[in-house]
Parts: sequence; C-alpha cells; structure tokens
Amino acid sequence: MIELNNLTMSYALEHGRLEVLTGVNLEVDDSDTVAIVGPSGSGKTTLLVLLAGLELPAEGSVRLDGRALDELDEDALADLRRDRIGIVFQSFHLVPSLTALGNVALPLEIAGAADSRARAQAMLERVGLAGRVDHYPAQLSGGEQQRVAIARALVHAPKLLLADEPTGNLDLRTGETIIDLLFALNADSGSTLILVTHDEAIARRCQRVVRLREGKLIEEDKRAFPA
Ligand SMILES: Nc1ncnc2c1ncn2[C@@H]1O[C@H](COP(=O)(O)OP(=O)(O)OP(=O)(O)O)[C@@H](O)[C@H]1O
Ligand SMILES: [Mg+2]
Repeated sequence: MIELNNLTMSYALEHGRLEVLTGVNLEVDDSDTVAIVGPSGSGKTTLLVLLAGLELPAEGSVRLDGRALDELDEDALADLRRDRIGIVFQSFHLVPSLTALGNVALPLEIAGAADSRARAQAMLERVGLAGRVDHYPAQLSGGEQQRVAIARALVHAPKLLLADEPTGNLDLRTGETIIDLLFALNADSGSTLILVTHDEAIARRCQRVVRLREGKLIEEDKRAFPA
C-alpha cells in the first residue's frame, strides 16, 4: 500500500534549513493499522502531508499502490486523493459557508455520487452528530468540528485513511467512539489506517507503532511500551 524510500524533508528558514525528516523508510501493507508517535515538532504532520502528496519531499520517494507520487501530475494526484485517500487534518479545514451536512457531502458531490446527502447524513450519525447536520462550522464546538472533519474523511470509504490526532479535541468517551469507528472501518472494509497520536493507549491498538525521533522513523516493539 505504502512505500517510503529514503524520505527527506526540510524547510527553508531565514538562516539555513530545518531538517525535519532525514532518510525515512517505511513499508505498510494493505489493511495494516500503523500508529505514528513522537514529540511535538518531530515531523508527524509533515510525514502525513508527504503521504497524501500535498507536498513533495526534498529527496526520496513516496509510492502508494505501486505508483510514485512524484511521477503523477496535479490532476492525477487530485484524483488519487479524491478516490482513495481520506485525510483528517489537525486543523479541520471545514468550509465555513457549508453546513455540517454540506461539508461531509462535498467529497461525494465532487465525485458525482447520486446519494451524497443520504450517505453524509449516515456518517454524521455515526460520529454522533445527528442533531447538528444543519449547523455551520462556526456554530459547532471544537470537538464537533473535529467530528465533521472525520465524517468527511470517511464518507467515501477511502482505501487509505490518514488521521492526524483525530481525537485531540474530544473528551475521553467521544474520542473512544471515534477511534472505535476508525478501527471498525479498517476491519469491515480493509482500509489502511495511519494514525498520528500522542495517546499511547490508542497507539497500542494499532498493529504497528512507529516513532519519529530526530528525523528518523523507528519501529517500536509494542511490548516495550509502558503499560
Ligand atoms: N512550512 C514550514 N516552514 C518551516 N518550518 C516548518 C513548516 N512546517 C513545519 N515546520 C517545522 O517542522 C517541524 C515538524 O513539524 P510537524 O508539523 O510535522 O510536527 P508534528 O510532529 O506534527 O508536531 P505536533 O505534534 O505538534 O503536531 C516543526 O518543528 C515545525 O516548526
Ligand atoms: Mg502535527
């Protein structure tokens, strides 16, 4: 599903460059669940952005389903994201002029699905927002906005789900419901899940845990985790 080869990413600063990822390698099989952990600023979001093809690495390559992202043009990348990838960003990027229902239906409408509003409604119910479908983002709490963003990422049943701290704004119980939903989709439809989290208990629920440290990605032995 995913193959990262010697991935390197740096950002230009006023004085010099900031190296964020240096020679990251990773292979992820179809239907795997992988947690990415690491301290704030270690490059977790950067890694997801590269995986989604939203930016190109300085060096190295990202292959999804056998296709090298740097060989695809903008249109092909957009098609790939629309058809096969669901992304939950740390900041939610909801469209302020659309209701919760409109935001969740959007990816389906772009793809030309006939039943987009019914499917969006059903997904909003699964994230516990049946009573908020007609609210605009500004009329939703932070956790509700996060759940709308999650519903939007899941509504087209993507083969690859990239989730950046999807429970960061949620109380324990709502967070558990959302995490259960992500794992249920993985179990039911075999979607691959890449989950960035600071929560070691959530990380342990994934089949694999990889840790970013000083630009490198290190696979964890889950037994070494503190209980
Ligand atoms: N566009 C940019 N220009 C310069 N530096 C950047 C840019 N984007 C990110 N960085 C820096 O790169 C480093 C990695 O950022 P990233 O967002 O990937 O961290 P993270 O692991 O997701 O952290 P967090 O857990 O806080 O979300 C950070 O130190 C950040 O300040
Ligand atoms: Mg981040």
